[in-house]
Amino acid sequence: MSTAIPSIGTPLSPVSPQAFAVRTLIIVTVSLCAAIGLLVTALVLYAVVRYRDRGDGAQPRQTGGNRKVELAYTLIPLGIQAGLFSFTVMTMRAAEPPVYNGRPDLVIVAHQWWWELHYPGAGIVSANEIHLPAGRQVLTALQSADVIHELWIPRMGPKMDAVPGLDNRLRLEANQPAVYLGNCAEFCGVGHAWMRLRVVVQSPADFAAWERQMSQPPPPMFGEAKLGREFFQTHTCIQCHTIEGLGPPQDVGPDLTHFASRATLGAGAAPNTPEELGRWLNNPQSIKPGCYMPHMQLSSSEIKELTAYLEALK
Ligand code: CUA
Repeated sequence: MSTAIPSIGTPLSPVSPQAFAVRTLIIVTVSLCAAIGLLVTALVLYAVVRYRDRGDGAQPRQTGGNRKVELAYTLIPLGIQAGLFSFTVMTMRAAEPPVYNGRPDLVIVAHQWWWELHYPGAGIVSANEIHLPAGRQVLTALQSADVIHELWIPRMGPKMDAVPGLDNRLRLEANQPAVYLGNCAEFCGVGHAWMRLRVVVQSPADFAAWERQMSQPPPPMFGEAKLGREFFQTHTCIQCHTIEGLGPPQDVGPDLTHFASRATLGAGAAPNTPEELGRWLNNPQSIKPGCYMPHMQLSSSEIKELTAYLEALK
């Protein structure tokens, strides 16, 4: 998979019905306000020129108490406000349609500073890279493991808070296969800016292939990779990260069972290459300041072995 980091995009290039509704509201509101602004500016300029002091000391005709004008400038803005208000309420309903409380297809748990992902139906656990089938609504539960975060994938719809103790629901969908970017949109501590999310939207066939790949156990390891696995299993790595078959599930740090299938590491902090992973293992804070992975004081051969192991976890 390409490690190029695509542009995060804006709500002006929507790919879901929810995001289309948001864009329509933006366009209507901005156009209407711009038209009013231009009209008022033109009228002010007209009055300034037409009724300027011509040096003859004459005053323009003085008028006051025009009921028709007063009614017009009260009722027309009131009508515009009422129209915008109703349109905004309709957009809110379209952008966040009611969702039922059945079993979600996808559970997203926000952490400082990464995203834990579960697909309960398929039994898949992953992190920081959501895969979705194109053109299908995915019922999503959004939760938090620590503080308030906020999920925002600008091209896919409005933001939603991840609040400790709450189980917020939303629908995620996109009409065309592509990679979309999201980010945490609520300040949540020092790593907030590096709490990124990749959303890989695939054709249903590609998505099914991804699900099959994610259901595979890790492959057998040889040589350096095997030494890396032994190190991982016998040191503190195993107390924070899950790798299927190595120990009990942990959710302090991201699940690494299919780490090498992801395009980035550190929730978008760097491309997932052996060089960057080596830098990360040497000192995570040098790539993502404040992150909770400790500086492990690893030797260069331990870094090489762990890198060989982790990059084999496709
Ligand atoms: Cu999580 Cu900001």
